[in-house]
Amino acid sequence: MVAWPRVTALSSLLRLGLLLSLLSTRSSGRPQDKCLGDKSCQPVRSPVVLIPGDLGNQLEAKLDKPSVVHYICYKKTDSFFTLWLNVELLVPLAIDCWVDNIRLIYNRTTHTTSSPSGVEIRVPGWGKTFPLEYLDPSKRSVGMYFFTVVQALVDWGYTRNDDVRGAPYDWRKAPNENKEYFLALQQMIEEMAENTGRPVVLVAHSMGNLYTLYFLNQQPQAWKDKYIKAFIALGPPWAGVAKTIRVITSGDNNRIPVISSLKIRTQQRTAVSTTWMLPYAHSWPKDKVLVQTPTTNYTVLDFKRLYSDIGFEEGWLMRQDTESLVADLTPPGVAVHCLYGSGVATEEAFQYSDQFPDEEPTPVLGDGDGTVNLLSAVQCGRWVGKQKQPVTLKELPGNEHVDMLLNYTTVAYIKTVLFSP
Ligand SMILES: *[C@@H]1O[C@H](CO)[C@@H](O)[C@H](O)[C@H]1NC(C)=O
Ligand SMILES: *[C@@H]1O[C@H](CO)[C@@H](O)[C@H](O)[C@H]1NC(C)=O
Ligand SMILES: *[C@@H]1O[C@H](CO)[C@@H](O)[C@H](O)[C@H]1NC(C)=O
Repeated sequence: MVAWPRVTALSSLLRLGLLLSLLSTRSSGRPQDKCLGDKSCQPVRSPVVLIPGDLGNQLEAKLDKPSVVHYICYKKTDSFFTLWLNVELLVPLAIDCWVDNIRLIYNRTTHTTSSPSGVEIRVPGWGKTFPLEYLDPSKRSVGMYFFTVVQALVDWGYTRNDDVRGAPYDWRKAPNENKEYFLALQQMIEEMAENTGRPVVLVAHSMGNLYTLYFLNQQPQAWKDKYIKAFIALGPPWAGVAKTIRVITSGDNNRIPVISSLKIRTQQRTAVSTTWMLPYAHSWPKDKVLVQTPTTNYTVLDFKRLYSDIGFEEGWLMRQDTESLVADLTPPGVAVHCLYGSGVATEEAFQYSDQFPDEEPTPVLGDGDGTVNLLSAVQCGRWVGKQKQPVTLKELPGNEHVDMLLNYTTVAYIKTVLFSP
């Protein structure tokens, strides 16, 4: 998942400046400069599709609601407006309107979710890179996401929305409710491979990796052999993320003081993807206490009880709807490059007092990238030798979950994959 808008946007920008100057020094004398007009000596360059993580692309909303939760909320809008990310919608009072627009309603009969009456949500920019380069289209310094990677690709000769494209989606939902997405993704990959004459490299971040794995698991091997060159997995939570337990239990404002965790919890619980990303028993030690209260200890085997005790029984239905989607971690059947940060304090368990679940817990910290637990990221290691295509693991010590997208080591690694024969 992507962290909330970073208060440290300025320092990110400063680091970006440093990174861009590094990149431009290193890329002077690009191979194609020497052979202008001679097509035969163009460097081999694979087309790229970017698959973002949870909260990792813009969403838009249009309203015509029968009622609102507060008099300051808009009931009707003439056109679509940016619902994610617009920090102005997250301040006190306005956030009540925002939650009521972005939340999903679960139907226990159909096991599907929908928006509240009169709320229409759409994902802007299919195939474009803008919805994931910056999450906030206006406040360009906050919510910078895939920009650094895309800009580096452009510096190497790529063209936005042509041979590097974005595959944004409704990240509130799990793959079982995003069927058309996978069809559109398949068609886009085929089109890009046909346009360029080369198979595509998929670059995913965070939850986007589980979307990508699900997608690849559905495709016939012959299709993958023809259309996919490699899958670069950045910060992959193969076995879920412990932090999501806190998110569903007591909410998580990512330490942004103006946002109340309990308010944001309402929205966070209704997003099926949060529940999909809870830790998986195939990797988590079954005796590890994930949530501790004065009366009860919960492990990875106690989620049914946890959902019941926090008064969110629908969550257990959502978990059952989604748990099997990628739970067997079937090898993707394409070359995999698995890059993950480590050495950053990462929440792995939560201690509550008798105010459970309506309070901020005391987290227990472990190893990871600040969001994804190391234990989860390294599960791609189980594919080594289980598929004929190579699987490469690369640990990036000191890299934070989102900041890894700005790091020179990550960007340089991506380049070696894209330009390898
Ligand atoms: C759930 O879906 C069913 C079938 O579409 C529908 O009949 C029912 O009214 C829905 N339930 C709610 C609470 O909206
Ligand atoms: C929960 O587990 C801890 C150790 O992790 C133990 O000290 C405590 O007694 C347990 N509490 C309950 C209620 O079982
Ligand atoms: C970039 O990643 C490398 C490899 O993990 C690490 O040594 C370095 O400190 C990182 N740089 C920044 C600015 O985070």
